[in-house]
Amino acid sequence: MLHAAITAVGHFLPEDRLTNADLEQMVDTNDEWIRSRTGIRERRILRDEDKATSFMATEAAREVLRKRGIGAEEIDVIIVATVTPDMFFPATACLVQAQIGATNAWGFDLSAACSGFLFALSTGARFIESGRYDKVLVIGADKMSSIVDYTDRNTCVLFGDGAGAVLLEADVAGNGILDTVLHTDGSNWDMLCMKGGGSLNPSSHETLDKRLHYLHQEGRAVFKFAVEGMAGVAGTIMERNGLSGEDVHYLIPHQANQRIIDATARRMGITMEKVTLNIERYGNTTAATIPLCLYDWEGDFRRGDNLVLAAFGGGFTWGAAYVKWAYDGSTMAVPAEQEEVLVAAE
Ligand code: UT7
Repeated sequence: MLHAAITAVGHFLPEDRLTNADLEQMVDTNDEWIRSRTGIRERRILRDEDKATSFMATEAAREVLRKRGIGAEEIDVIIVATVTPDMFFPATACLVQAQIGATNAWGFDLSAACSGFLFALSTGARFIESGRYDKVLVIGADKMSSIVDYTDRNTCVLFGDGAGAVLLEADVAGNGILDTVLHTDGSNWDMLCMKGGGSLNPSSHETLDKRLHYLHQEGRAVFKFAVEGMAGVAGTIMERNGLSGEDVHYLIPHQANQRIIDATARRMGITMEKVTLNIERYGNTTAATIPLCLYDWEGDFRRGDNLVLAAFGGGFTWGAAYVKWAYDGSTMAVPAEQEEVLVAAE
């Protein structure tokens, strides 16, 4: 059977760091509270006001193309998972398409908050499996600093900016995205949301005064759902695929809170050495956390490794993917016919 495999990973992280010490100067918080409750020490912030999510997504996409040694015109579909699009429309995927010069691609944005990358990965995989498309670019990108209220200590310590991207291509060797389990339950939508600016509360002086243009989260309540959702769905995907804790080489979890990740690893019966963790350095970058982990650990993965990806986010949305990694090292070999084109171009 044809599966969609990840064949390259790219990323973008802004250089500016917002540390816990910086936040101590901005709100009533402290390094000890933030580290012990979340695991975060610092996050990256895109300070340049002229740059938005599409800029980071484009940089991540360009790195994917460079690493895979292909031109943008080879891309068939671009899916951008984000809750911080540059604007309502056009979609951020359109802006990325133009900026990388993907002249043969169509694309769209997908909104599933912190589960966005998993939802987009699963959607992209279906396009490859159908045999209709050869190369799908899946991007998770969020400029969370654009919707975070830096006077609200409950949320401003949690989030950061960043982007990650992967290329999906067909694999007939039994590797790739072998299974996904996805869920949506909107009954608690208002526990994690941004109410302002949409058709329910169009932007006005009143919505600004009520701070509806900022992300709102009921942290403690969301925490309980997140533990149950992420650990539960990780368990389900292992069961469905006959995987024991020992069979799993890596857990790649959404990075919202170190304690949620610990609980998920415990439920899966795996040790923390098998868990990719970069929350300490980047905080919660929403749709970008999982591809940023793939980027940071890519060099450690081996062909045939069993990876479980798991996420929980606003909506609520949650899910997991079982991925058999398709290559060794930090890049997949460029296919022979493309190598010829590249050599000829030099
Ligand atoms: O990514 C998508 C899904 N989102 C999540 O998965 C996030 C889930 N939630 C969480 O990760 C945690 O609930 C938080 C990290 C957001 C908060 O941790 P918590 O252990 O649930 O703390 P809490 O909200 O219950 O607050 C405990 C105390 C409160 O004070 P009182 O009422 O006990 O006096 C808060 O006011 O900590 C206080 N507090 C802070 N203190 C210092 C809240 N934020 C801060 C802060 N610094 N930044």
